[in-house]
Amino acid sequence: MTHVFRYELLKTDGAARLGRVHTAHGTIDTPAFMPVGTAATVKAMRPEEVRATGAQIILGNTYHLMLRPTAERVAALGGLRNFMNWRGPILTDSGGFQVMSLAKLRKLTEDGVTFQSHVDGSRHHLTPERSIEIQHLLDATITMAFDECTPFPATHEQAAESMRLSMRWAERSRKAFVARPGYGQFGIVQGSVFEDLRRESVEALNALDYEGYAVGGLAVGEGQEAMFSTLEFTTPLMPQHKPRYLMGVGKPADLVGAVMRGIDMFDCVLPTRSGRTAQAFTRRGTVNLRNARHSDDPRPLDAECSCAACRQYSRAYLHHLIRCEEILGMMLLTQHNLQYYQDLMRGIRGAIQEGRLAEFAARFDEDQARGDI
Ligand code: GUN
Ligand code: ZN
Repeated sequence: MTHVFRYELLKTDGAARLGRVHTAHGTIDTPAFMPVGTAATVKAMRPEEVRATGAQIILGNTYHLMLRPTAERVAALGGLRNFMNWRGPILTDSGGFQVMSLAKLRKLTEDGVTFQSHVDGSRHHLTPERSIEIQHLLDATITMAFDECTPFPATHEQAAESMRLSMRWAERSRKAFVARPGYGQFGIVQGSVFEDLRRESVEALNALDYEGYAVGGLAVGEGQEAMFSTLEFTTPLMPQHKPRYLMGVGKPADLVGAVMRGIDMFDCVLPTRSGRTAQAFTRRGTVNLRNARHSDDPRPLDAECSCAACRQYSRAYLHHLIRCEEILGMMLLTQHNLQYYQDLMRGIRGAIQEGRLAEFAARFDEDQARGDI
């Protein structure tokens, strides 16, 4: 096990990068997808099952864990990795994004954000310093700077003001970070869809010399085309020898397109949340297993998939479980979706290795467009 936090760039194919992130808790092959484990669990999955899909790192949330069971309790129980029995690295988001989407009576000031818990209405104050302290108490391998995810759409003036607040918070987050071997902190680039603001944001963060850099404020309603063009002018400004993480993204096609524009890491609730609402991702696009057309179908969901749902069960059975709202239906579909996402990332890495990512992407688009069997 390495004790230095380091990004190793192994190969490039256009703007795409094959690499490895070395951490105190293990190595992450990139491009990588991080399953979301908001409340100290990747919903409906045991940690060893998550690992078996190929995931090497998962995401946890400051906001949820500070409310329940509290960061101090997790710390007393040996940190989040011990608490939930996840043996690899963990990245924690810093909380501001979740406060703005989940909490009640939010008030944002220069100091931070005050809010009421969505759980019991209790009042809390989150600042860059407190967010980083919580992430340290959770013993996160990678902590995220405290930021504001600029809502979309925003005028240039609104986006500039929001981004500059995030950059002042980034400086405070960096000061609050306690460096330890194999641990890292990522800064978050903001600036909405404006090139000059993204450049100003990257430059401000570069001066703080983070272990990695995230692109925030995307997948918030701007659409795939605007997201891709924002990445096209943002990633070339980012350091070559640090990992790049696109927050909260995305659909399979978003991942392929963002890797082609220089992104190394992703997280999204889509595979897990969809798994609980009967939507499956397959090599032939999305499939809704609630649909009656599956009720007599003895075939597997995806014949090429190695997951338990596809190897051992029929579409008819999965459909039945979902119609009856059986817990096993959610478990199997979540497992399948995470397997699909990890297989996709493995395919992407193999294609970069061979210098054939463009062909891989063309084939991916073709297969997705063919539609379900
Ligand atoms: N998750 C998705 N987008 C964002 C963002 O802009 N900031 C943070 N902290 N988390 C996110
Ligand atoms: Zn499967």
